[in-house]
Amino acid sequence: MRKGDWLIAGLLGLVVVVAIGKGVYDANNPIDDKGIPFYSIASEEVKRAGADLYRDIGCRDCHTIWGIKNIMETVPAPSLDGIGSLRSEAWLYAYFSAKDPQAIIPTRLKKKYGMPSYAGLADSERRLLAQYFAGMKVKDWYLQDVKAAEYKKLTGNPYPKQEK
Ligand code: HEC
Repeated sequence: MRKGDWLIAGLLGLVVVVAIGKGVYDANNPIDDKGIPFYSIASEEVKRAGADLYRDIGCRDCHTIWGIKNIMETVPAPSLDGIGSLRSEAWLYAYFSAKDPQAIIPTRLKKKYGMPSYAGLADSERRLLAQYFAGMKVKDWYLQDVKAAEYKKLTGNPYPKQEK
């Protein structure tokens, strides 16, 4: 081979080595390339108005969304990231309208830390909150990863493969 041919062969070799290396790395770090699992499908208007209401009436005294936590917060309330993949808009509306939310989800906390009733809010506000949170989705792979990790922690066994 001529000098130029060696150079090309060498470069190709290098590309192959890097590609294999990346493949091995990706296989060992499956989460790394997947990005943030939470997203919203709500309209810009609902996103803005919902976020304002969520902030103004103090939901974040207890809850977190987008991983943002009020540093004064001590109540172990569930994170609401991706809640719209778990609960429907109708369910959320009913929950926010309930006189006694604990009749829907029993609390394991003292009464004052449990989910308060928002039946006193205007109907339009309860609808907005339901729309806003119903739009907050979580990607499927993340739910599967969380379920698998939880299963493994509880049982010590790998999570059984799911039928699609
Ligand atoms: C005093 C603390 C507190 C405040 C304030 C609060 N929550 Fe909650 N929330 C909770 C707790 C704790 C739960 C879990 C159920 C329980 O223990 O009552 C919960 C449950 C929920 C759930 C159900 C989650 C699931 O698993 O399906 C939603 C949705 C929710 N809250 C939304 C809101 C919204 C929206 C607001 C503001 C309008 C709000 N919360 C204000 C403490 C709070």
